[in-house]
Formats: sequence, C-alpha cells, structure tokens
Amino acid sequence: MFGRLKQLLGIDGKQPSGDGQVYLAGLKIGDVREVHKIESASYLTPWTASAFERACEDDQEEFWVARLAGKIVGYAGFRKEPELGHIVNVTVHPDYRRRGIATLLLRHLFNRMRVTGYDRTYLEVRETNLAAQSLYRKLGFRPVRTVKGYYFDTGEDAVIMEFVLTGEPKR
Ligand SMILES: CC(C)(COP(=O)(O)OP(=O)(O)OC[C@H]1O[C@@H](n2cnc3c(N)ncnc32)[C@H](O)[C@@H]1OP(=O)(O)O)[C@@H](O)C(=O)NCCC(=O)NCCS
Repeated sequence: MFGRLKQLLGIDGKQPSGDGQVYLAGLKIGDVREVHKIESASYLTPWTASAFERACEDDQEEFWVARLAGKIVGYAGFRKEPELGHIVNVTVHPDYRRRGIATLLLRHLFNRMRVTGYDRTYLEVRETNLAAQSLYRKLGFRPVRTVKGYYFDTGEDAVIMEFVLTGEPKR
C-alpha cells in the first residue's frame, strides 16, 4: 500500500496534470458542482451543494479535494471543534475506489489537524458501512461508542470512532 501511496502522493497546490499522480488542494466554490455529483452517487442522503459552499466559506471547516488528471476523484473535510477535530466527510468517486485515495486524503487531514493543534480526531460511521469501518480501522481508528438511531433516514446506529493524532504512525 505504501509504495502505491507514495506514487499517488502529489504536491499540494500544484496544477493538476495528466501524469497519473493524485494532487490535493483546498476545496473551492468552483469545485462544488463536481464534488456534489460524486456525493450524490455515493450516499443515500447526500450533502446538499450549499452545504459544500458553506464549507468553502466557513473558517471552522477545512475541505480538501483529490484530483487525478484534473478530475476530482475524492474529497474529505473536518470541522474545527473546541477539543477535537471532527472528520465530517470522506468520499471517493465510485470508479476510483481501492486505489488508496481515501487513505491519502485522511492522512492529509491528520497532518492538517496536527498543525491546527489537535491531538485526537473522531468521526461517525453507519454501523452497516463495513467498507468505511475497515478503512478507518486500518488507519488506526478505534470504535469508542455507539449512538442509537443517529441516522434519521434509516434509523440505524452510528459507530463513533476515534484516532490519536499524536500516536505512533501506522505502517
Ligand atoms: C469508504 C471509501 C471512502 C473508501 O475509499 P477508497 O479510496 O476506496 O479507500 P482506500 O483505497 O484508501 O482503502 C484503504 C483500505 O481500506 C479498506 N477498504 C476500503 N474500501 C473497502 C471495501 N469496499 N471493502 C473492504 N475494505 C475496504 C481496505 O483495507 C483498503 O486497503 P486495500 O485496498 O489495500 O485492501 C469509499 O468506498 C467511499 O467513498 N464510499 C462511499 C462513501 C462513504 O461511505 N464514505 C464514508 C462515510 S463514513
């Protein structure tokens, strides 16, 4: 995985190119249409386009997009809460999954949260979303509790998972 990740790792802020690398950049208003398409293809209850627009403007949220050959292939963001960084969205385009893109985005968020001064982060995930839970466990997240009926659309429970940003990096 790490050889593949290194290969995928682009330099933040560079212009996307057709060199087969994935580049990360901050989410901009002009990206929202493309991001919202991926969001709509990925969730039963997707975020609205205006929620992403608000995220671009809100100092308390930080969103990053991953681009491959100029095309957005994934995005992830966190909210700056008083004690912990809260990862609020991690999504990869259905055609680009299992290539390490979510891993790349999440590791980038970890670094951004460390820079912001956090020592821990958390997220919530549907109890049935075993793919995402597997990704988070692989990165070192641990489940800390369950919130009954958290998701209003299906009534299912949320698993709250936490990650210690100051721990030993997972290889
Ligand atoms: C969950 C999601 C973000 C994963 O993105 P991804 O770019 O495919 O993830 P990665 O390639 O970085 O996966 C890293 C590891 O996570 C685990 N993993 C990822 N997807 C998996 C799946 N479908 N089934 C089982 N394990 C999976 C694997 O261990 C994988 O390593 P491997 O490919 O070497 O086996 C993506 O499937 C997605 O966008 N799903 C829909 C939106 C969603 O559920 N987001 C999370 C909301 S909490």
